[in-house]
Amino acid sequence: MVDVEIRELMQPFVLSDYQVQEVYRRFCNETAKGLRRSTHDQASTKCFPTYVQDLPTGDEMGKYLALDLGGTNFRVLLVTLKGHHDATVESQIYPVPKDLMTGPGVQLFDHIAECLAKFVAKHDMDKAYLPLGFTFSFPCVQLGLKEAMLTRWTKGFSCPGVEGQDVGQMLHDAIQRRGDAEIAVVALLNDTTGTLMSCAHRNPECRVGVIVGTGCNACYVEQVENVELLDPNFKRSRSQVIVNVEWGAFGENGQLDFVRTDYDREVDRKSINRSEQLFEKMTAGMYLGELVRLVLLRALERNKIFKLCPKRAAFVAVLQNNVDIFETKHISEIEEDSFPEFTSTRRIVKELFGLDKASVEDCQKLKYICECVARRAATLVAIGISGLINKIPDRKVVVGMDGSVYRLHPKFDSYIREMMQKLVKPDKEFDIMLSEDGSGRGAALVAAVASKST
Ligand code: BGC
Repeated sequence: MVDVEIRELMQPFVLSDYQVQEVYRRFCNETAKGLRRSTHDQASTKCFPTYVQDLPTGDEMGKYLALDLGGTNFRVLLVTLKGHHDATVESQIYPVPKDLMTGPGVQLFDHIAECLAKFVAKHDMDKAYLPLGFTFSFPCVQLGLKEAMLTRWTKGFSCPGVEGQDVGQMLHDAIQRRGDAEIAVVALLNDTTGTLMSCAHRNPECRVGVIVGTGCNACYVEQVENVELLDPNFKRSRSQVIVNVEWGAFGENGQLDFVRTDYDREVDRKSINRSEQLFEKMTAGMYLGELVRLVLLRALERNKIFKLCPKRAAFVAVLQNNVDIFETKHISEIEEDSFPEFTSTRRIVKELFGLDKASVEDCQKLKYICECVARRAATLVAIGISGLINKIPDRKVVVGMDGSVYRLHPKFDSYIREMMQKLVKPDKEFDIMLSEDGSGRGAALVAAVASKST
């Protein structure tokens, strides 16, 4: 049990039942606004129609290229769909140099096309005609499966010349500029859509796709009559469409101000996309570690932790001068650690802050800080997922999940389930499944399903 001082410090991160219910109500309200034409512009959760209307059957066959841009890495993949719910994936990771994340958009797309060309050459595919699905994990207005206009950059990207442009066209142009491969961009999709599709490929009850990684977002299957922004031509032959909620932006109209803390405001102030993606800044891997750093700094300044540490002044200076020094992966490692050894916690504290002998009490306190930050993130994610499940008419709903926070954190899944038990309507059943390479397999499936229906 940690002492009362630290519990008091962390109180703002512990959401009361009232706060949970109120965030839930506001989230449902906001998604309803996003879907309606008359209120869409004011809604923070844009609920973009994706034009993906058919879920996979599991019988899909063929070879597809896929690109995955939007997390920490850029990847090129070759996906072979084999029917019988089966697929194999070969992939290659290419780092995106930091300057390309903020430099001119054309350079970013030239880099993507160059990596693609290298991959195709390496796999001896330069002579083949290859359909490609592009998982582009940023908010986009889609005008069709192949047309996606970037509305804003998120997650540390800020390349000029791309917002408001069709990223499918930009990729196509970059491939043409090189002229060394016959590649057709047949589908653009969000990583949440990829996750939903790849999970539906294995389990037909999947209706929701969620990412809790560098960024945070979800999509779900909605009835076409509720999606006012969907072109009426797409409502005739299909009853459903996947909607990309873009819930990372939730809170931009002040809806989360009653639960945001000073630390959240500080994270936002220092970010390159100030006042944007406020829900994301409370839930995603890009920000959770930084929240812990800020809390730890406050705890040290108020002498609530590492009280007897001889090198406190140096410790405070390291924390003050190194934004992002504490990473979200450290939260996972610390929460995994066992009492009373605290082997990983002690290693992290030594590596990052140069402290030799952290006491058991200090390790417990640090673990508690991490737990509160991660649990609040999981609670918020669970609120969003429950809101979506409760809208879906099916009695049983499976949720496909992916992202580094969800995968690496030892308790994130159980925190989410615990909160969902309270929020999902009692007449419904739910389950969560881990996505297997949603961005790659999902992109191939969208491309395959698209070519089947045309
Ligand atoms: C983007 C979403 C994406 C999510 C997870 C967010 O920053 O806006 O489009 O799905 O990150 O990658």
